[in-house]
Amino acid sequence: MSEPLEFTVTLYPDPVLRKGAEPVAAFDAELQHIVAAMFERMRASKGVGLAAPQVGLKRCILVLNPTGEAQDDLALINPTIVSRFGASTVFEEGCLSFPGIFAEISRPERCLVKAFDANGLPIEKEYEGFVSRIVQHEYDHLEGVLLVDRMSPAEKLANKAALEELVQSYKKKQAPPAIRSAR
Ligand code: CO
Repeated sequence: MSEPLEFTVTLYPDPVLRKGAEPVAAFDAELQHIVAAMFERMRASKGVGLAAPQVGLKRCILVLNPTGEAQDDLALINPTIVSRFGASTVFEEGCLSFPGIFAEISRPERCLVKAFDANGLPIEKEYEGFVSRIVQHEYDHLEGVLLVDRMSPAEKLANKAALEELVQSYKKKQAPPAIRSAR
């Protein structure tokens, strides 16, 4: 038995979030473990979706659940958004990599997705409404595109202080430990 995986969410502006993702090659036990651990992380963080780059993995894996009901768990492996269509809708989005930040983001109402489930079975499905929005948001993560990139100038301005705070706390974590003997 392998150790249970435990993921933490990578926060903006960690460059890991910009690196994009590569296709999953094997639908094996390791993938099942990753998917299960991603669902666990998503739920524990009270999110509705999570992309592998957010847990530091450069892999094309998305998990989402628009309702919180177990039967609505959706894992999309190697997804492609074949097309986006319908009216442009505006909705308030958050992102686990941007704690405390919410912004009105405009996206097309519908999308057609081709992907595989965690067992390697092909999925081809049109999503609309909230699920479509989550799919589009999470898919962005696979391409290194983030909430901040989708914000209008006004939304960026409204969130300026909170974004700057994330940058500062990231920088603080990167800083080498202070030299204590210097006197
Ligand atoms: Co996100």
